[in-house]
Amino acid sequence: MKNLIFTKIVFTGILMFVMTNAAVSKSFAAGLGEMKTRMRTSFNYGWKFIKHDIDEDQIKGAEKADFDDSGWRILELPHDWGIEGPFTEGPFTEEVESAEGCLPFPGVGWYRKTFEAPPQGKHVFIQFDGVMKNAQVWLNGRKVGKWPYGYSSFYFELTPHLNYEKSNVIAVRCDNQAESSRWYPGSGIYRNVWLTVVDPVHVAHWGTYVTTPEVSDSKAIVRIQTQVQNQTSESKEVALETTIVDAEGRKIAANETSGKIGANGSKKLDQMLSVRNPVRWDIDNPYLYTVITRVKAGGKITDEYRTSFGIRTFRFDADKGFFLNGRNMKIHGVNLHHGLGPLGTAVNRRAIERQLEIMKEMGCNAIRTAHNPPAPEQLELCDKMGFLVMDEAFDEWHKGKVANGYHNLFDEWAEKDLRAMIQRDKNHPSVILWSIGNEIPGLGSPKGAAIAKTLADICREEDPTRPVSIGNNARYKRVADAINVLYVVGWNYRSGTGEYDEKQRIQAGLKQLATETCALVSSRGVYLFPVKKGTNGCQNGQVSSYDLTNLGFGGLPDEEFRAQEECSFVAGEFVWSGFDYLGEPEPCQDVARSTYFGIVDLCGFAKDRFYLYQSQWTDEPMVHLLPHWNWPGREGEVTPVYCYTNCESAELFLNGRSLGKKLKQKGVYRLKWEAVTYEPGSIKVIAYDEAGKALCSKEIKTADKPAVIELTPDRAEINTGGRDLCFVTVKIVDKDGIFCPTADNRVNFKVEGPGQIAAVGNGNPISYESFRANQRKAFNGLCLLVIRSEQVPGKIKITATSEGLKSAFLTITTMKTKLSIF
Ligand code: GAL
Repeated sequence: MKNLIFTKIVFTGILMFVMTNAAVSKSFAAGLGEMKTRMRTSFNYGWKFIKHDIDEDQIKGAEKADFDDSGWRILELPHDWGIEGPFTEGPFTEEVESAEGCLPFPGVGWYRKTFEAPPQGKHVFIQFDGVMKNAQVWLNGRKVGKWPYGYSSFYFELTPHLNYEKSNVIAVRCDNQAESSRWYPGSGIYRNVWLTVVDPVHVAHWGTYVTTPEVSDSKAIVRIQTQVQNQTSESKEVALETTIVDAEGRKIAANETSGKIGANGSKKLDQMLSVRNPVRWDIDNPYLYTVITRVKAGGKITDEYRTSFGIRTFRFDADKGFFLNGRNMKIHGVNLHHGLGPLGTAVNRRAIERQLEIMKEMGCNAIRTAHNPPAPEQLELCDKMGFLVMDEAFDEWHKGKVANGYHNLFDEWAEKDLRAMIQRDKNHPSVILWSIGNEIPGLGSPKGAAIAKTLADICREEDPTRPVSIGNNARYKRVADAINVLYVVGWNYRSGTGEYDEKQRIQAGLKQLATETCALVSSRGVYLFPVKKGTNGCQNGQVSSYDLTNLGFGGLPDEEFRAQEECSFVAGEFVWSGFDYLGEPEPCQDVARSTYFGIVDLCGFAKDRFYLYQSQWTDEPMVHLLPHWNWPGREGEVTPVYCYTNCESAELFLNGRSLGKKLKQKGVYRLKWEAVTYEPGSIKVIAYDEAGKALCSKEIKTADKPAVIELTPDRAEINTGGRDLCFVTVKIVDKDGIFCPTADNRVNFKVEGPGQIAAVGNGNPISYESFRANQRKAFNGLCLLVIRSEQVPGKIKITATSEGLKSAFLTITTMKTKLSIF
């Protein structure tokens, strides 16, 4: 939560760097004039970029201040150079070719930015939320530092190398290789960059640690440990004034302490504050408090720092699973990779927020950040929107899964990366677990067990308040030594193997969680016949959406629902995976570039199983029906109809005739009418409660030929500033407005006014069309247009045309909103 003052500072900063974009700004000092103490500004604007190594051009020295970068492209961060394409098209003979998404992310890229120093006497830090990967950073030709892991946030102090008489140039070199990941990793400075300017006596980077050692209905004890840094050459008597404000900004607790900090030293100051009648942070009421920390030295305020936190309790229990604020509940989670579909990996707050909104609508309450530290924005949004988070560090330890994976860095960097993750993320109430890894090769060996202990000890040292876990796919017996040093064991795909087993729970006292479940694959809107479990596999690059096709290592959602119901001692599940992502295109790896594992497709359009989870994870009456009802040529053929509902029973009607009512029974999660013979017209389902009262219904009608384009924006008003997005669903319907479920018309877009096309997509895993275009073919009736705002407010007019179809028009308003942080 940001207050108005902070927002104003951020805004001033953003505007300032926009100006920097046009011409090197002389206004840094002017901007600072308004600032009393700390200023944290976006450092995303006005970068120059080139996508190759400098030596290749026989030009050396891109790190030097006077290097001629006049021919380089000007861009804004965050930037993922891989998503710009073009794709390498299949068919592929080697699995590795499509595993990373078929986009040109490997290689070297350089970024440079010119800026003015703040006034002398201030200390200046640069923070990169993530650079993919092998980042090396120079300021005015002098090496400032390096950070190889692409998912870690890291920072460097710039002060000693700053020029005060002339401009400064920061240069960043990234180097990513093929076979560095098991999914599309993206490349470049793909997360936000920040510049922080502080007085010499200030709160250290990630320097507050807020915990709640005691929580009851009447009172919470809030412990605030603050690392204060004195960057002067004399020791300082420092006062620390700490205030807690509630979500409405009311001051509810305060405390002042003091300490002496030696010259060029730092000290941790410890305070306990008490909050009366605390409002709990919960998934349904994600209530946030803020700690405002003021540092005073020499009679003046030298720093003001804000930390958002929540008051909540949780525990894992070997007998009863998971408790949040004393309430026993199941974790209904999904795994998410960091990619944002057609937008690539370049972080965008609104795109992450939309992902979480879609997951929330399904009833999802938890995210596992597979398999790496997430963008900070993801955690901020989880705090605000009420998601629990399993924050994960690594996909590899000392043994590799891919040739250029993290195992090459592990020995030198694992401790630094793990500490960086925890130090950055430890104040987020959403985070309930530290995960030290995923499916670690060699976990069962003595070395694996020793590493597990070392990593778990680091987690406990940094943050003793959260349990340590892992995503493990090996049998307990094989990895017991490693697992036993953890607090919660995370099982990947073990529900069918008897691993969630009473015996183990009792013998080993294991607290258990399913960290990866299901291996269901499907393409949105594709239905293949005959309908049978486990059959069909990949046909012409598509997988059936009857939700019965699973890969061997995992089961169907239904099997996991059953296991979770039977095993009340298991804390819940994280499904693999919430969204489709680029790469890992099993079982069509020879022709496809993105996965089929997602519950929703790459564009965020729900596949059928979205509603299967919704029927299990939500209470608001809902009913869903499949397949679509456009089957020319199948007249008279058996065409099974499935229904997903959270109601007691449902009745199916074909062209108004009842095909019978079916009752939901324990352990059965879909209602099936297997013997329906297809005839065009209408298929309709009505869902009832126990007393037979109709609660909801769904009808699918056979569509005539495609005739009209429909545009539906996710929001009609967005913020200016060039960061906010509008996601427009493009739908093909017939002359009566009925959805055409197999339409593949190419739609052309024209955008006028202060907006631009950020991306297009359609969710088809075998499409090699660019995501950066002003046209897109529909895939099974839908495609997506993503519009990005510009700096100025106004009306963005969108026109969608397609040969033979009635055009569509849409206007979106962009507005300057004071509270916007986009
Ligand atoms: C798991 C792995 C995930 C993903 C998934 C689907 O074994 O942990 O990262 O690869 O399989 O293939």
